[in-house]
Amino acid sequence: MLVTGPNGAGKTNLLESLHVGTQGFSPRTRADAQLVRFGRDAARVALRGDRAGVPVELEVTLELGSGKRAAVNGARLRAAEQLRSEVATLVFTPDRLVVVKGGPGARRAYFDRVLGRLSPARSGLSAEYGAAVGQRNAALRRVSRGLSSREALAPWNEQVSRLGAELVEGRTEAVELLRPRFRERAGELGLAAAELAYEGTAPTAAELEARTDRDLERGTTGIGPHLDDVGVLAGERDLRAFGSQGEQRLAVLALLLGEAELLEERRGVRPLLLLDDVLSELDPERRRILADRLRAGGQALVTSASANALPGEPAQTVTVEQAVDGTSRAA
Ligand SMILES: Nc1ncnc2c1ncn2[C@@H]1O[C@H](COP(=O)(O)OP(=O)(O)O)[C@@H](O)[C@H]1O
Ligand SMILES: [Mg+2]
Repeated sequence: MLVTGPNGAGKTNLLESLHVGTQGFSPRTRADAQLVRFGRDAARVALRGDRAGVPVELEVTLELGSGKRAAVNGARLRAAEQLRSEVATLVFTPDRLVVVKGGPGARRAYFDRVLGRLSPARSGLSAEYGAAVGQRNAALRRVSRGLSSREALAPWNEQVSRLGAELVEGRTEAVELLRPRFRERAGELGLAAAELAYEGTAPTAAELEARTDRDLERGTTGIGPHLDDVGVLAGERDLRAFGSQGEQRLAVLALLLGEAELLEERRGVRPLLLLDDVLSELDPERRRILADRLRAGGQALVTSASANALPGEPAQTVTVEQAVDGTSRAA
């Protein structure tokens, strides 16, 4: 589906509301209050669709001051974020380029989310590990201030090492699963020999113990998967540092398309793809390849300010325009 309309008409808003309605949160901000129309105190997204041929209704409501609620087929979920295990949605926005060109933290966060989508039971693992590192760091500072003994670090060394090992294992699995599909989709888009490289090793409790002096000095845990990175390469070239903007964009797209295939294999349903402003910087040949790929399966929404940027005939075109009262209208 092509979503078109002039700048500022509300195309990104429409995509964002589909993300909120299917995942329970915005891809742009964690500040839910920003999702409510200026001057109003509540927002609601209600969607009707089908999941593997079975009708599904999703609803997310957001009230300033009282938080967020989500329901699937009328049954309320414990937390809106639980929608993620019900419906898979993958999003490309121009800010997603940070996954390739940003610092290691952006890539860790991204691949940890991939892990959570591939293996929902492990979606909290990254945060759990992060909390254990935070606790160990707090314990380090207590020891340096003489408020507790070095022995107090032992349980945190254990936790960091145990959760770290699980996280490294999960990331390794996710990257290994994604790699061949990423490579294939990137190749199709003309980015040859694309590769992902992850080599994390979690420290043992003994290794953490052996670092105590250095860690006490800095007040932070200096080894572990919270410092890892995932290499994104084209042949020998590291796209993080040496990719052109266009190549970085293709790499992000290939990650998304590769993950879509993987999710479809695992869950039996192709995820909803939301691609915001993806066409503007692609040359005509790559636009065509992308359009063919999107047509090959699943549902995808692509926004573009120009109505003819998507080669071929889209299954559906939605035109968004700004109404006189400043709100957006889609037709
Ligand atoms: N919470 C909000 N309430 C009302 N309008 C908003 C809100 N957040 C953003 N906007 C307005 O929505 C418009 C942007 O729409 P957007 O979807 O980004 O347009 P585009 O079609 O270019 O993608 C801007 O005019 C912005 O001021
Ligand atoms: Mg936009």
